[in-house]
Amino acid sequence: MKRITASILTAAVLAFGGLVSDAIGQSYSSANQNERVVSPVKLTLPVEDGSVRFLVTGDTGTGSKGQHQLAEVMLRHHEAFPYEFVLMLGDNMYGGEKPADFKTKFENVYHELLGRKVTFYATLGNHDESNQRFYGHFNMKGEEFFRFKRGGVAFYSLNSNYMDKRQLKWLEDELEKDDSEWKITFFHHPPYSSGGSHGSSTGLRQVVEPIFLKHGVNVVLAGHEHFYERIKPQKGIYYFISGAGGKLRKGDVKKNSPLTQKAFDQDMSFMLVEIVKDQMHFQVISRTGETVDSGVLMNQKKKGATDSK
Ligand SMILES: [Fe+2]
Repeated sequence: MKRITASILTAAVLAFGGLVSDAIGQSYSSANQNERVVSPVKLTLPVEDGSVRFLVTGDTGTGSKGQHQLAEVMLRHHEAFPYEFVLMLGDNMYGGEKPADFKTKFENVYHELLGRKVTFYATLGNHDESNQRFYGHFNMKGEEFFRFKRGGVAFYSLNSNYMDKRQLKWLEDELEKDDSEWKITFFHHPPYSSGGSHGSSTGLRQVVEPIFLKHGVNVVLAGHEHFYERIKPQKGIYYFISGAGGKLRKGDVKKNSPLTQKAFDQDMSFMLVEIVKDQMHFQVISRTGETVDSGVLMNQKKKGATDSK
């Protein structure tokens, strides 16, 4: 009952005086300048006990109206899919990085999630100052690259701005002794991309891909491109781009790219991920609450191939 009440309040706040027809499940329209209809929450994720649940977003640091609207949709999904943490894929701050900027471009946007004790883990993008690693809410513990673990899943946040020898050695050493069921790396520049403005970071790919292959990295998450793209598995590794968390580069995904399994470049978006044993479920949600991609990926060590819905 408490949860439903909270949802009604959330929906009412979201509507800004527009039409509100229900708590969680119904559409409503917002009477603000950029009117939009938000779709009902429809999870494709299993929400199983003991699973590892998280949200993925990138290129968020604008404080824009769109970023706020996307955060509202994230919050609505937290009701139905209580994710424990958020991976930020870089460009966490565009422009200034004064305390006031951290407030307007991060804290004010995600304050309700922060209030629910959702933990954010950041990686550094090309617009980010290195000192962000000391900002408490980014949980980088003063490091430009770091590892943490949840259940059987190891997460590696890398600094793709400077993939120097020190970082590569650290990565190899950590992976060498890592017997986690899943190894997920996240960093800013995408090794594979169908973006018209940036495209694949091929130099970076040449350096990191052999390490990922040697040590059985399962999934790579990147931003930089302001759209969503799921890349066809490359040498068995699953690559995603989710960089439309604060900006959108509409129509930037090249048509008929041989890399694209699925792409969405018409609105801002974020990813929800749930790992249940040897399966990784994902669902990608737009600013209007629509599901624009979803599927299940099998752990590469297990028998069976990818299976997308
Ligand atoms: Fe970037």
